[in-house]
Formats: sequence, structure tokens, C-alpha cells
Amino acid sequence: MNRILVGILLWLSILSHSTLASLLAIDYGSDWIKASLMSPGVPFDVLLNKDSKRKIQSTVAWKKEDRLFASDAYNIAGRFPTDAFPSLKYLQSAPYDSPTVSYYMSISTTEILETSRGTVALRRSDGSEWSVEELIAMQFAYVRDLAETSLGGEKVTDVILTIPPYFTQHERDAVIDAVEIAGMRTLALIHDGSAVGVNYAMTRTFDKENPEYHIIYDAGASAIRATLLSFSSVPVEPKSKQLATQITVHGAGFDRQVGGTEMDRRLREMLIRDFDRKYNKDIRADRRGMAKLWKEAGRVKAILSANADATASVESLAFDIDFRTKVTRNDFESACRDLKPRFVGPIYDALDFAGLTMDNITSVILTGGATRTPMIQSAIKAAVGDAKIAKNVNTDEAAVLGAALYGAGLSRQFKTKDIRISDIGIYDIQVSYEAEAKSASAKLRTINTVVFPAGSKVGSRKTLTFKRKDNFALRLNYKDQPLLGHPSDILEAEISGIPEALANLTERGAVDPVVKATVVLSDSGFVSVHDAVAYGEIKDDSIAGKLKGLFGTGSSSEEPAAEQETVARSEDSSSSVSDASASPSATPVPEKKASSKDNTIALEVKVNLSSVPPMSVAQKRASRDRLAAIDKEEAGKRRREEARNSLEGYLYRVRDLLEDEPTTPFMKCSQEQERTAMREKMQETFEWLHEDGDDASTADYIAHRAALESFEKPVVHRYQEIEEFPKALNASQMWNWSTRLFLTEAHENLTASLEPNGPPSKHTVEELDALEKTLREHEVWLNEWVEKQKAVKMNQDPILESSELKEKAKKLEMHLQRLVKKKAPKVKKAMTSSKSASATSTTATTTMTSSHSQETEGSGHDEL
Ligand SMILES: *[C@@H]1O[C@H](CO)[C@@H](O)[C@H](O)[C@H]1NC(C)=O
Ligand SMILES: *[C@@H]1O[C@H](CO)[C@@H](O)[C@H](O)[C@H]1NC(C)=O
Ligand SMILES: *[C@@H]1O[C@H](CO)[C@@H](O)[C@H](O)[C@H]1NC(C)=O
Ligand SMILES: *[C@@H]1O[C@H](CO)[C@@H](O)[C@H](O)[C@H]1NC(C)=O
Ligand SMILES: *[C@@H]1O[C@H](CO)[C@@H](O)[C@H](O)[C@H]1NC(C)=O
Ligand SMILES: *[C@@H]1O[C@H](CO)[C@@H](O)[C@H](O)[C@H]1NC(C)=O
Repeated sequence: MNRILVGILLWLSILSHSTLASLLAIDYGSDWIKASLMSPGVPFDVLLNKDSKRKIQSTVAWKKEDRLFASDAYNIAGRFPTDAFPSLKYLQSAPYDSPTVSYYMSISTTEILETSRGTVALRRSDGSEWSVEELIAMQFAYVRDLAETSLGGEKVTDVILTIPPYFTQHERDAVIDAVEIAGMRTLALIHDGSAVGVNYAMTRTFDKENPEYHIIYDAGASAIRATLLSFSSVPVEPKSKQLATQITVHGAGFDRQVGGTEMDRRLREMLIRDFDRKYNKDIRADRRGMAKLWKEAGRVKAILSANADATASVESLAFDIDFRTKVTRNDFESACRDLKPRFVGPIYDALDFAGLTMDNITSVILTGGATRTPMIQSAIKAAVGDAKIAKNVNTDEAAVLGAALYGAGLSRQFKTKDIRISDIGIYDIQVSYEAEAKSASAKLRTINTVVFPAGSKVGSRKTLTFKRKDNFALRLNYKDQPLLGHPSDILEAEISGIPEALANLTERGAVDPVVKATVVLSDSGFVSVHDAVAYGEIKDDSIAGKLKGLFGTGSSSEEPAAEQETVARSEDSSSSVSDASASPSATPVPEKKASSKDNTIALEVKVNLSSVPPMSVAQKRASRDRLAAIDKEEAGKRRREEARNSLEGYLYRVRDLLEDEPTTPFMKCSQEQERTAMREKMQETFEWLHEDGDDASTADYIAHRAALESFEKPVVHRYQEIEEFPKALNASQMWNWSTRLFLTEAHENLTASLEPNGPPSKHTVEELDALEKTLREHEVWLNEWVEKQKAVKMNQDPILESSELKEKAKKLEMHLQRLVKKKAPKVKKAMTSSKSASATSTTATTTMTSSHSQETEGSGHDEL
């Protein structure tokens, strides 16, 4: 109920000082990655790949030393079968010896090995080994870079990811570990069905009394799943008239053995059998051939979605054979016949989970690439009826868009519709611990108690009470193994300090003190032991206290059974809405008795992680460093490539310059022997590039270009001067003229001031003489050098540079400005006689100012 609120509180506390961060949503699938960016002021949409595609192939690969992503990586698998890593989602946290990994090996041509954590790493052909988390982190970083590029380089660090509801804690850990290795931060994980629900609700309104039930049916590459959701409107706050949309997850069903990949595998098996029949050769032993057939199977499957038959065709598949064969949809469908009931199984499972029937469902919303397969479509139609299948829902991108919208709701920076989700965990999660031995000889007995039964709301907690005297360990695990070959255990929490704490409480008068441990099922579906305390009520001798004792619970059963007493309390303590329905085995929170003095002592909780622990901080740091090293190397390669291209491009430009018509500026401004020298240097550089260019360093390329450029530069300078010089000269003459005008007027004023009662002059004779002198010098210099420059030919270096002209003019200008800016002496009120003089001066000043502004444009002087 209060997930969003809780989320907001967390988010604000993490990020209270930073403003307006962008949010990246990633839907990481086994075949495709979809991403979406929520950024202030940027239209909200799916993030486009480099080739403007709306989805990104979920593969990372190497072509020799070059790392590739997306379709480049996908397409290279046929040539580099052990260097292309697709479908990595299967391998997230999968134990090395699990059936999941065997299955992966049956669809992939990669080489795998076991990590120190018992999970899987993949080996490139150069021998380097990469953990699944690292390879996925590379893809996350690739998506992040796309996002940052689309924002013009602005950093993106916060990410929200969709995951299937069936992901175990270990798989969730693997997602978050990859995000961290990529240098980002996980804002939240959201179940993909719920994310589709958010997207669906965004543009619709729902009834307050009668919730609408919908099933999100998602047929992806690696699994099929169905999520049953209800949509309704609820008051924003109790009694408020304003409404928010409430999405509640009621159940889910899934099958992790069917999906697009399994159908691809069966189609490839058909092709293999056909090849074997025709050529009697073992294609399975040929990795390249197998990789090529894999790609072809995917292509043929897509054709068969729209056609009754298709031709598979792979040139030089293996053994120099060009393989061609016809595949019919009928044959393909018979090869998948046993999957048919499994296509719809998750729908029935979701209904059972929720305790509803198909009659309760308004529509089934299809999403996921595999829903385009006619086989799946007809299976669903047969199961739910054509009328129940939702139309006009943009399905492929619904999950990632919904995730971004959900994230936007968490961050509160973005104005979005008020949508609340109440999601659930779908596995029974139990605590296990050894019963306290009654005698030394008694056998140890393990007690299992389900704390979060399937259907428990995420974002809830429970407090367990134990009557224990000694330290003990609490294990959290799945009641049933969530996936064959995957661990059921989640974590072990060692609780210590119990005897001391109990003794303390007893000494202070507590009767039968107990141990209480709080376990949490977080918003993103992680369980943990939040804390543990020793607790005892110190005896109260007041009447009220005695009465309480009479009617107290008195549940002093011998068995140290874990009885839950606090359940499903939202982590947001400010909220009074506690959802007791979250857990069927829940009992209400006992009211705190005012008459007793509570007393708690915190106990030490040491967590020992399960058989597939998440990566340690040190492991993640090491992985980050590895990835950073690749990034750095690639950046270096890019710079080298750029330097090489730049040299190459320049060489061709120089060749064109030298071969051009004699009328080009370059030809006009260069001399024959200069061109000869330049041509020689050019040829030498061409040869160098041809012979040594492949091994050269970035600096070599840059140096070669600079050497060649030193031949062109003087010529370029000449024709730049031919452009610049007249402008600079014009400006110089302008200042010359303005100064002359000024002096004339100033002299008039000086003369007038000498008359009886004449106005005082701003300037003294000395000042005007000094300016006169500067002007004369400027004129003399200008005349002399301009004459000399006139004799210089176009293809010779100028003897008077425009920069020198500007410098000299600046000197004159500054001298002039000093006098112009000089404050006029105080004029007595009576002295407003000589109107004509003032009129002249105004004209003169105006002219000067305007000539100055023209000069500014021409010569680049930027101040008076
Ligand atoms: C589901 O449908 C059944 C039979 O149509 C009906 O009795 C029941 O109330 C419905 N349940 C809900 C939650 O709508
Ligand atoms: C009990 O614990 C409290 C606080 O932890 C401490 O102040 C007190 O001295 C302890 N009492 C005894 C009897 O150990
Ligand atoms: C931690 O768990 C492992 C595997 O379950 C076990 O072998 C080990 O003894 C445990 N360590 C502690 C301190 O409980
Ligand atoms: C010099 O400046 C004047 C005034 O701006 C302009 O009319 C004239 O064309 C310029 N001459 C040159 C050679 O730039
Ligand atoms: C400078 O200006 C004066 C007056 O306008 C003019 O007679 C003289 O020829 C100019 N000199 C040059 C070098 O432009
Ligand atoms: C000449 O005198 C007039 C009137 O006092 C004044 O506005 C003008 O700036 C003076 N000109 C110079 C060049 O000093």
C-alpha cells in the first residue's frame, strides 16, 4: 500500500542534496534490452540505439580485440563463436553445476567455467575470463553511455530495472551487483508484470468500487509468465476526494523452461537433423556452424510467424557446405507440440494463486516477443477466448516505460499520475533454526516456520519471538527449491549476546524475557534479518500491572516456537495503514500496555550468506577496475584511430591542394619550390603510413601531421593576411581620421576658452600636442610600411602583418580615448552661450563613435 511513500522517503534521504537527476530504466531481457530515460526537460520515450533502433540485442562480443555490443555483437557470433556472449540472463547467479547452466550450454557456443562463488564465468578465445555479472555490467554501461550521449554528456547514475517476479534473491543480487560494477546505483527493482501495469494505468481511469482484474501475459525468450493485477481508484489520503490509482498484484504464474529461446533451440534441432540426414556430418562439433545455425533458426522462426513455410539458408555453414533447407510451420509446430499446454499454464497458475477464475478477468494483455508466435497466440486464444485478449496495447515497450514511470513516481522530481503498487513475493519464505536441546543426549531438531508465505506484500516486516537461553542462528530460506539446481537457502543470521542480555533483564525484574528478531521483505523483494533484541517486561506492582498479569497471554508453551506478533507493517512508520491481510498467519499487533515498562537490549546479528552469496565489495571493486581498464584502453584506441584518420584525411587534402587549379588561394600564395618540398613530405608521409602506419602510436600520427602542416601553414597565413590586411588598414585609417577630427574640435574649444568669458577647455595645449605627435608618428609609420607591403607579392610572406597594424592603431586609439574620456571642467550656469560650438562637437563625437563601432567588427578590437 505504501510502497511509493516508502520509496520516496528512501530516495529523498539518499539524494536530498542532489537536484534533478536523470533516471534510467532498463528492461534486461535474454534476447533484447530495452531502455528508457526520464530526464527533466527531455521528452519521455524509449532510448534509441546507435542505429536508431528501439531495442538493443542483449549480446556482448569481441571481434579480436574490439568489444562489440548490440547487433554488431549478435552478428559476429558466427565468426567468433566463443567470443560472443548472448542470453546471459539465464546465467545470473546460476550454480555452475545446475541444469540451468547445462541448458545454456545447449544453446550457446561459449566456453564456461566456475567462479570462486560457484557461479559461472565465460572464457574468451584469448583466455581471459569474465563473470556473468561483469559481462552484464558492460551492457548496462553501454546503455548508460547511450543515455548520457542523448543528454549531451550529462551523467546518469540512477537506474531502475525490471525483473521477472520469479527471480530468486540470488538472481536479484546478481542484477544489483552488475549495476554496481557498471558504476550505477539501483533505485529499485520492479517486477515486469507490475511495470506493464503501471504503463497500462497511466492513460486509464478505474472504478472506485469495482476493481478491474487483468492478466499481464509475458512470453519472453527465457520464460513465460503471467501476472494477475487489479486496478482501482483509491482516495489519495483517507477521506480525501482526490483519487489515486491503486494497482494490486494478486498472483503470478510462470514457466522457466518455455519461451522464445526453447523454440529457437527446437528449430535449430530440426536444421541439425536435416543437415545430418543430407551430409551425414556432425555439425554439433563445429562451434561456428552451430552459432550460424542458431542465428538462422531465429530468422526462420520469425518468418514462420507470418508464413506457412520458410527456407533456411546458410552459406558455407561448415565443411564448405552451403546449407539450404525448407522448414514448414507445421513441422515446427509438431516439434513444439509438447510445449503447447505449457504456454497457457502460467495463466491458470496465476488465477489459482489469486483465487480467481477467468470470469473475473477483464482482459489478458500480451507482451513479450514470443507472443508473436502463432502457436502461442492460438494457445492463448483457445484458453481465454479471443474477446479477452487486449487490443491496442503497445506491448514490447510497456515494461520499460512503466518502470521509468514508476521510478519517476519514486523520485518526485517528475510530475506523474499518482499510481500506487502493492506487489507481492511469490515464494514461501521460511525461517529455520535448531530447537534448543532439552538434554545433552536429545537429538537436534530443526524448526521451520514460514514467515513470508507466497503472496506476502513486499515492503513488509515481521517480528519473531523466541524463548531461547543461548545464542542461536536463524536461517532464511525458500520453503521449496525455487529452481532446480539453485539453492534454497538465502542467508544465515547468527544472533549473539543472548545469555548476557537475558540475565540483565531478569536481574532487573523481567519475567520470562524473550528474544525478538525482525525480518524484512523489502520493496525490491529481498529478505533480511533487520535486527534482534532481548525483550522483557519489567514487573509492575501497580494494580493495573497486576490486572494485566491476570489477563496476559500466558502462552508459556515449552516449545520455543516462533510466533509472529507483528506483521506486514510498512517500513514507513509514519503511516498508520497496516495491511494485516498480507499474511494469513498474522496475528494483530498487541497494544503496548501503559502499565509495563518495556525493556529491550539490542543483540548482535552477524549475517553469513548462503551458498551463492552476492559478490563481495572487494570482488565488485576488482570487476569495476577491470571494466574501467577496458574503457580506458578503448578510449585510447579511439584516440589513436581518430589521429590516424585525421592524418589520412589531411594527406588527401594536401594532395588535392597541390593538384588544384592555379587559381586557388593556395596555388596563388605558394611558390613552386615550396610546393615541391611539400609534395616530397607528403609522399614520404604516405609511404610511412603505408609501411609503419599500423603499428604507430597516437603521438606518431599527430607528429606526422604536424610536420606536414608546417609546410602548409605559411601559405595559409599569406592568404589569410591578404584577407585581413585591408580591413586592418581601413581601421587604422579610421582612427587616424577620428583623431584628426577630434584634434580640430579640441583646438577650437581651446581657442574659444581663451576668449574673455569663454567656456573652459577640457584639454590643455600640451595634451593636444602629445596626441598630435602620436598621430603624426602613426601616419608616418603607416605611410612608410604600407608602401613597402604593396611591393610584396602574393606568394611571399608579408612584411607588414595585420596584427602589427592593429597594434599600432590600438596605441593611437588609447591615446585618443584618454583625452575623450577626460572629465569636462565645471561649467558655470551662465555659460550656455556658444550653441554653434556645442553642435559641432556633437557631430564630431558621433562620427567618432560610429567609426569606432565599425572598426570593432573589422579588426576584432574588443574594447575602447
Ligand atoms: C469472481 O467471479 C465470481 C463468479 O463470477 C464471483 O462470485 C466473485 O465475486 C468474483 N470475485 C471478484 C473478486 O470479483
Ligand atoms: C543492563 O544493561 C544496561 C544497558 O545495557 C546497563 O546499563 C546495566 O548496567 C545492565 N545491568 C546489569 C545488571 O547488567
Ligand atoms: C556460514 O555458512 C556456511 C555455509 O552454509 C557454513 O559452512 C559456515 O559454517 C557458516 N559460518 C558460520 C560462522 O556460521
Ligand atoms: C573601410 O570602412 C568603410 C566604412 O566602414 C567601408 O565603407 C569601406 O568599404 C571599408 N573598406 C575596406 C577596404 O574594408
Ligand atoms: C590620416 O588622416 C589624414 C586626415 O584624414 C589624411 O590626410 C592622411 O592621409 C591619413 N593617413 C593615412 C596613412 O591614412
Ligand atoms: C568641445 O566643447 C564642447 C562644449 O563644451 C564639448 O561638448 C565637446 O566635448 C568639446 N570637444 C572636445 C573635443 O573637447
